[in-house]
Amino acid sequence: MAIKSSSSTAVSPQKTDREEQVSENILRPQTLDQYVGQSQIKSNLRVFCKAAKQRKEPLEHVLLSGPPGLGKTTLAYIIAREMEAPLRMTAGPVIEKAADLAAILTSLQAGEVLFIDEIHRLRPAIEEILYSAMEDFRLDIILGKGPGARTMRLDLPKFTVIGATTKAASLSAPLRDRFGHNFRLEFYAEEEIAEIISRSAKILEIELDESAKRVLAARSRRTPRIANRLLRRTRDFASVDGQSKVSKSAAESALKALGIDEVGLNIGDRALLETLCNKFNGGPVGLNTLSAALAEEEATIEDVYEPFLLQLGFIERTSRGRKATPRAWEHLGMKAPAENAKLF
Ligand SMILES: Nc1ncnc2c1ncn2[C@@H]1O[C@H](COP(=O)(O)OP(=O)(O)OP(=O)(O)O)[C@@H](O)[C@H]1O
Ligand SMILES: [Mg+2]
Repeated sequence: MAIKSSSSTAVSPQKTDREEQVSENILRPQTLDQYVGQSQIKSNLRVFCKAAKQRKEPLEHVLLSGPPGLGKTTLAYIIAREMEAPLRMTAGPVIEKAADLAAILTSLQAGEVLFIDEIHRLRPAIEEILYSAMEDFRLDIILGKGPGARTMRLDLPKFTVIGATTKAASLSAPLRDRFGHNFRLEFYAEEEIAEIISRSAKILEIELDESAKRVLAARSRRTPRIANRLLRRTRDFASVDGQSKVSKSAAESALKALGIDEVGLNIGDRALLETLCNKFNGGPVGLNTLSAALAEEEATIEDVYEPFLLQLGFIERTSRGRKATPRAWEHLGMKAPAENAKLF
């Protein structure tokens, strides 16, 4: 694929390999107090968890949405912990058949939290079973086929579904409506990323210069997962150079080697901007055309690259497709074509 070199994987906001899995588990905050940023969501959750506990009821179903690496899975663990409830994990693509979902639902304990990652990838038939179970805590199982078929109704204990998705818009309306709480995670402020880096450095016993921390915080794509990954990579650069403390220059070498630029764009982000500007004169260009030109899936462009480029004000979504803004042209060091040049 055009923009998937090994260094682009190293800085993509998606999870990469087993090493990362292990490190993420070590660095995952365990409580709402340790969870940096997203203050509105945290303060709401504190109230809702406390109220549910006072009523001795499970929390209403929670939908967590937002780009990869912003802390959805982490928050799901924390919610279960706040509720002092057991947590069962599954994911949309894993539940292939109605029987798979029925097996999970019928084995839940009262108050249990069922975390469904990538919930937008559930098949429609499964979604339907899920949302009726979420609504009435009942499961209708159809036994047999044709005229002899009959329905068996099972009562389920009350439980909480936490759904996570990078694509809230592609959830069906009935499923979306079953979530009493709907939280959208936002990109973090640079200060918050700096705080996450300090916390992780402490856990990993990495000594970090204040100036190195600033450089990493400014260029972590406002994403905790990337901040943690850059921190680990920077430590590698420092130790190869024989430094015990990570300096600004080690941070800069790591960023350069990983192809991260001064605003935190990675190779994939820049490939998208460059294609938009060089091949399509800045757009507007449709998603499918862009996807073909980049040899990248539409979903990846929409869920992984675009949210951050939109946040930086580098692209716009118009009814006719994606468009590069003057800021994007400036960032690439190129001159934007005059708006009305095509008229002459
Ligand atoms: N608010 C936060 N404070 C501190 N660390 C965080 C925070 N959010 C996320 N992290 C760190 O970032 C890592 C990635 O977060 P997480 O796995 O929860 O992201 P995600 O939104 O579930 O991503 P994906 O969409 O790829 O599943 C976690 O291991 C955690 O260490
Ligand atoms: Mg996750």
